[in-house]
Amino acid sequence: MKIAVVYYSLEGNTKFIAGIIADTLRGDCIELKPVRDINPRGFMKFVTGGGLVFRKILPELAALEKQPSDYDVVVIGTPVWAFSYAPALGAFFEKNKLTGKKIAVFCCSGGGKGRTLECMKEKLAGNTIIGEIDFIEPLKKGKEENAAKAKTWAEHLKERIEPGNA
Ligand SMILES: Cc1cc2nc3c(=O)[nH]c(=O)nc-3n(C[C@H](O)[C@H](O)[C@H](O)COP(=O)(O)O)c2cc1C
Repeated sequence: MKIAVVYYSLEGNTKFIAGIIADTLRGDCIELKPVRDINPRGFMKFVTGGGLVFRKILPELAALEKQPSDYDVVVIGTPVWAFSYAPALGAFFEKNKLTGKKIAVFCCSGGGKGRTLECMKEKLAGNTIIGEIDFIEPLKKGKEENAAKAKTWAEHLKERIEPGNA
């Protein structure tokens, strides 16, 4: 089974969790990189980033190094922006129609994830959802505990990826 972890991260939290999941599942990381991203410093990021979500403006993404459609299992992660997935994920969903895959979704938030995971699953209709989980500021609020939580979750996913073979 080929496994990929597709994610976007502005400030490193989602990237941190994605790396642990990819290591545990021995999968490839595929980072979504907007050609021009918002400035991660200061309060304005909430105004600018939130504005993109509300106005449904999707960034142009840099070409992906690997194609998610080539994988059997795709784990997808996002930071929560304005109670939903970040616009980079929206751009990914527009360009990459995944079907027939085993998919797991995760998000990193400040504590208010809203309908983020539900919205992701709606975009991923036609696939089998094998897991979902959320993290709260994993780099700031218990890095070790959150790393262990991500590893344990990924271990559970193994059983759903190849039952009896985990
Ligand atoms: C534009 C913007 C909007 C955000 N909106 C929310 C939100 O609605 N709810 C929430 O709990 N956290 C929100 N956050 C906080 C992030 O989800 C949180 O810091 C997350 O861990 C960041 O992940 P990253 O480091 O991978 O970018 C927002 C952050 C930004 C930059």
